[in-house]
Amino acid sequence: MHEQLTNRFSVVPRHIAIIMDGNGRWAKQHGLPRIEGHRRGVINVESILECASEINLEVLTLFAFSSENWNRPREEVDALMNLLSEFLASKEPLLHKNRVKLRTIGRKHELPERVVAQLEQVESSTAQYPRTLVLALNYGSRVEVVDAARKLIAMVQAGTLDPANLDWDSLSRCLYTSDLPDPDLVIRTSGESRLSNFLLLQAAYAEIYYSPLNWPDFDRKAFAGALESFQKRERRYGMTSEQIAKRPLPA
Ligand code: IPE
Ligand code: IPE
Ligand code: MG
Repeated sequence: MHEQLTNRFSVVPRHIAIIMDGNGRWAKQHGLPRIEGHRRGVINVESILECASEINLEVLTLFAFSSENWNRPREEVDALMNLLSEFLASKEPLLHKNRVKLRTIGRKHELPERVVAQLEQVESSTAQYPRTLVLALNYGSRVEVVDAARKLIAMVQAGTLDPANLDWDSLSRCLYTSDLPDPDLVIRTSGESRLSNFLLLQAAYAEIYYSPLNWPDFDRKAFAGALESFQKRERRYGMTSEQIAKRPLPA
């Protein structure tokens, strides 16, 4: 029986975002095709979802497919879309059990039609739940900024936004994440120390945690390790340590 994470951490982030990397290398290490690594990666999502429930995490975002991942071999892209479809079909009960709503960020309309239909079905059947699983699908910060700029230009043209009043609040309301808190902790697995176009604006003040484990090996012990590291971080938001000790942190 595994050790429960409930009540184990005094500082629990509101939002954890994970770059699930290293499926291909995991497969290679085990002499298996890349797709087998992706399959194991999906299995691991289930156990990390459980961990998120145990710590009562408000938002868990998983980077599942980037706007640049279309450049992979066609067979791999197709296999990833099939796995996503299987995931949505088989894991819906788990979302209900854990009272988690599904939503996505990214250019959803460019995904295969049947995947879009499944996503919309699961999003609507789980909409009433308090906690959120965000799947970043066909997501990239740069296209997100382009889409936000288009929305802002349309607002200016419609006369609903005066460019002189444009500030971060109005801009961030045009990002895909407009209704989500910023991530407090970004985890990347597989030992790579880069963000690969993931939540670049939203992670401005996130703590970053790099794990050497490939995603299929990133188990509950590793997840707990990331949270332990988060406990020790001092988030200063541009201020000094002394100031932070005296005043409450920004929400
Ligand atoms: C992450 O694993 C999954 C996706 C990007 C879809 P990778 O497929 O990137 O695995 P590596 O980086 O090649 O090991
Ligand atoms: C980032 O991983 C995308 C996902 C985890 C979905 P990649 O494997 O695509 O990133 P790079 O290419 O190594 O930077
Ligand atoms: Mg990779």
